[in-house]
Amino acid sequence: MELAKITGLRGEVNIPGDKSISHRCIMFGSIASGTTEISNFLQGADCLATINCFRRMGIEIENQEEKIIVHGKGLHGLTAPTEILDVGNSGTTTRLISGILVGQPFESKLSGDNSLNSRPMKRIIEPLTKMGGHISSILRNGCAPLYIAPGKLHGIHYDSPVASAQVKSSILLAGLYADGETSVTEPSLSRNHTELMLKEFGADIRSQFDLNTSKATAFIRPCSELYGQKIMVPGDISSAAYFIAAGLLVPDSEILIKNTGINATRAGILKVCENMGANITLLNERTEGGEAIADILVRTSKLHGTTISGDIIPTLIDEIPIIAIMAAAAEGTTIIKDAAELKVKETNRIETVVDNLKAMGCDIIATDDGMIIHGGKTLHGTTIHTLLDHRIAMAFSIAALIAEDTTRILDSKCVDVSYPTFYDSFENLL
Ligand code: S3P
Repeated sequence: MELAKITGLRGEVNIPGDKSISHRCIMFGSIASGTTEISNFLQGADCLATINCFRRMGIEIENQEEKIIVHGKGLHGLTAPTEILDVGNSGTTTRLISGILVGQPFESKLSGDNSLNSRPMKRIIEPLTKMGGHISSILRNGCAPLYIAPGKLHGIHYDSPVASAQVKSSILLAGLYADGETSVTEPSLSRNHTELMLKEFGADIRSQFDLNTSKATAFIRPCSELYGQKIMVPGDISSAAYFIAAGLLVPDSEILIKNTGINATRAGILKVCENMGANITLLNERTEGGEAIADILVRTSKLHGTTISGDIIPTLIDEIPIIAIMAAAAEGTTIIKDAAELKVKETNRIETVVDNLKAMGCDIIATDDGMIIHGGKTLHGTTIHTLLDHRIAMAFSIAALIAEDTTRILDSKCVDVSYPTFYDSFENLL
């Protein structure tokens, strides 16, 4: 994909469904009784991988594009897959499904692409093993491919060293199959879609937040049944983030981003934008299925640097690549710290962001847990090495819109993972 500088992005954009919520609808719908009907499901490669995994375990899932219908078979209705479950590029599929699989009376194997198979899985192997689950790294390197065998699960309390919704959700899902209460404490609250949605499905789940320590704990008790739901998936704020940045950075722009999820555990980017001096207005705020939603009106703004650290990091972890682009265009210095988790995403996003922004002429330094960006220098078009990371492709596509000359995004097709229609979405705005 080749892109060049533009001005005047104006109009409305409808953002595809939230990736995290779409995964969960399929998983919880599959182990619920009755049908789950999903609208605005994200038809991205990651979520399609989740659908395929559950189809391989005997769940009928109708994909009618506009609507997905999951014919759930109850907590104990999955059947043994006859082949390795292909999780593609998706960490969420791998970690959440593992929590369900350790509770099943059959063996299974999971494997993904090269990126997925090099991401850390010890973070779920350890707690699931403590619960009595049988799960191991086939190559004994702490990564997928994973082998899972039947085990008898008991409730545990787990103090997670990382604020990770994938780790938390994996343990909570295993907790559905345990013989007592399971709880997970994380150092700061990560996205809480599992807690909100499992409650809607009828699970016995609750959350507690310690104001003194900022630690969050989720508790789940086994239940006899979950119940199919009708779910409208909100637009993904992680996808909206590219249009927020485009609206702020491209001169003479005004973009209305419709129906976007603004759950506080995901909306850290809005706070950062505010701190950087952005002109953003939330319209039509409402709540559906426990999830906060709004339309986001963005106008071109003069941004300044900021510091991003601590408890806000889990609420914007996937947005750091695009925040770095905003910081490069802003006046002054932006410091991003406490974000070492970036190193274990689809790529090492400290490296992929810093290397590519440096190549565009930005004054940026990688640190052990983030980056320091001295903004305000003119960006120049160059060749962007995405390393097949969807968020790097999209973030640098926005950088290209404010850079001199032409920018070439290598392997831009990787946007399929979370936003297959990303480049088409610009058509309404030109
Ligand atoms: C996700 C959680 C986050 C995020 C990922 C989706 C989820 O990962 O980066 O894209 O759906 O639970 P961690 O929870 O591991 O930080």
